[in-house]
Amino acid sequence: MSNAIKYEKIGDIAVLTAQNPPVNALGVDVRKGLLAGIQQAENDGAKAVLIYGDGRTYFAGADIREFGKPMLDPGLPDLCNRIEASPLIVVSSMHGTALGGGLEVALSSHYRIAVPSAKMGLPEVHLGILPGAGGTQRLPRVAGTEAALDMITSGRPIKAGEALEKGIIDRVTEGEPREIGLAYAQELLDAGAARRAVGDMPAPEAIDFDVRYETLLKKGRGQLSPATAMRAVQAACEADSFEAGIKRERELFMELMNSDQRLGMVHAFFSERAVSKLPELKGVAPRALADIGVIGGGTMGAGIATAALLSGLSVTMLEMTDEAATAAKDRIAGNLQGAVKRGKISADQFEALTNQSLTLATDYTSLANADLVVEAVFEEMSVKKIVFTQLDEVCKPGAVLATNTSYLDVNEIAACTKRPEDVIGLHFFSPAHVMKLLEVVVADKTSIDVVATGFALGKMLNKISVRAGVCDGFIGNRILSTYRACADHMILDGASPYQIDKALTGFGFAMGPFAVADLAGLDIGWASRKRLAPTRDARERVPSFPDKLCEDGHFGQKTGKGYYVYEAGKRGGTPNPDVPALIEANRAELAITPRDFTDAEITRRYMCAMVNEAAKVVGEGIAQRPLDVDMTLLFGYGFPRYRGGPLKWADIEGLDGILADIMAYAKEDDYFWQPAPLLQQLVAEGRTFDDLNRENS
Ligand code: CAA
Repeated sequence: MSNAIKYEKIGDIAVLTAQNPPVNALGVDVRKGLLAGIQQAENDGAKAVLIYGDGRTYFAGADIREFGKPMLDPGLPDLCNRIEASPLIVVSSMHGTALGGGLEVALSSHYRIAVPSAKMGLPEVHLGILPGAGGTQRLPRVAGTEAALDMITSGRPIKAGEALEKGIIDRVTEGEPREIGLAYAQELLDAGAARRAVGDMPAPEAIDFDVRYETLLKKGRGQLSPATAMRAVQAACEADSFEAGIKRERELFMELMNSDQRLGMVHAFFSERAVSKLPELKGVAPRALADIGVIGGGTMGAGIATAALLSGLSVTMLEMTDEAATAAKDRIAGNLQGAVKRGKISADQFEALTNQSLTLATDYTSLANADLVVEAVFEEMSVKKIVFTQLDEVCKPGAVLATNTSYLDVNEIAACTKRPEDVIGLHFFSPAHVMKLLEVVVADKTSIDVVATGFALGKMLNKISVRAGVCDGFIGNRILSTYRACADHMILDGASPYQIDKALTGFGFAMGPFAVADLAGLDIGWASRKRLAPTRDARERVPSFPDKLCEDGHFGQKTGKGYYVYEAGKRGGTPNPDVPALIEANRAELAITPRDFTDAEITRRYMCAMVNEAAKVVGEGIAQRPLDVDMTLLFGYGFPRYRGGPLKWADIEGLDGILADIMAYAKEDDYFWQPAPLLQQLVAEGRTFDDLNRENS
């Protein structure tokens, strides 16, 4: 018997206990142990088998670290078939999270019991695969086609009560999984219950699968796993036999397992967990956080305050006037109402958060007791300096002083205080109570426990926190300004904003760069261009059409017009008919004869620009690891998760080909297309960005 499964016989019941912390993943030792346990139970004359997990959970799924490696016997599908085929009554008792292969083991058992807090689901689509151990065949047989399709294509886990209603489990009982499982197995034996194999149940009812397939493909923006998983459920309904359905499931599973999308999504899974685990923070205690100050109650400040309130912190909102403070409170209340609507907080909690946890202030001395203050005032160095000078005067010793600047030099801001070691950048993304990304910007003198406090705040706020160094735009906005410049160059040379947006949503981005610019507000880029104008190199190609739009008062969605025209009450916009003339005028000014671009060329250039700048960001230490860039783009910039992030995408595409293209583009514009030294080095050494991730985690 393997160490991962403990075998005992208690009366007529053989008990198989999984002991594979932290989540009882179904690695090879667990699979071997289960197989041997079933066999031993049959040899021992047991009448029933109980399977459950020690520790925090039943099996949380296949061991994801085994993906892409040769499958060691026994495979999960064979194991599930063997469990189901046992002549003994097999009972699974679930607690924690019975996910993926875990739920598949439970579905192969003949009876299922769970504690009320247990959650179960088939989240494989989020790893770019589908349930590959009979889940697409067994779940629809017990839950019906629609319910199974919903769970399998969304990957959404459900609670035990809902699983009971859907017929996925037989009983929900409070107690320890071992005790309730033993009692249930004994009860079944006493009642003379029959062995009950899901595979023997009739095939579920078919639906219009072709229509559903198209809907899923569209909804997934190119992600293949939900639509492919649906085809496997279709086989459950339409195949000649259960075995034929299992065979089809395996074929489709292998297709996805061998896909680039699986590589991208598994990278995202592990990187999402690794991103906040910085080697430098090991053993560093964060400072205490209970009271937070927020300066500036616009959209950003109100969003930050909302996120802090929702995570249980007390918030003092500082504004310039009573009227502005009241407006900030209204914004926060509006955000919190959204949380009430979504069932996240109750009406009573809403009252407590807005009336007890939130304090409005117009005087800096109100921030004297704050553990951390984050400013979200106008993006202008002189304004930031005034704020930090005041904070330095009033804040208690040890308070963390944070700026939410998106571009400005945090070292310069820190230098205007007498405590630069307490100053940090906390760059939230708007709306800050919704967007998952937080860039924790570490300045030269920021002390390590202040960095740890930034990450601790991110965790409290349920953010994905990424460490960034100081440079113009940090990780995300710096890379954005480069790929946006690449898009502008393509427009000057002949592409249209609409073709570019279409090509990039085709690649899987949530929105194209011009739709994003309209959403963020065109004035932001305008201010940044004006700020950088004095330092620009004469060789830089800077288009004038974006400035012209702003000069005419068009700032995107907030003014109803930008690259697109927005009609009140309508989602999305239609191309602004004035834009082509602005672009043509700009081309004429520069004596450019426009040429055609294919969508493939647009995507390739855009991605090469993104990867090249990202490689510079890693090479300069602004991001410590390639995965930090990947998570920044994934969680803050709408990068398609199934591609893993720009640097994972680059690894998959091949770094040598990307470098070769950059060199070719450099023949037209050797200022913009300067290859990143790190990219050149990796290509020369035959290494990848993922090699760097492994070496630095
Ligand atoms: N395989 C390998 N490692 C896993 C794992 C898995 N299935 N699930 C979690 N882990 C690891 C995590 O990477 C993490 O490791 P580190 O501590 O080294 O970072 C550790 O276990 C704890 O995980 P979390 O930090 O995520 O803990 P949590 O309590 O926040 O969440 C969880 C627990 C809900 C189980 C979450 O980890 C999770 O969602 N895991 C993935 C579940 C899943 O997708 N299962 C399906 C697998 S695919 C499958 O089963 C395919 C098939 O049909 C053959």
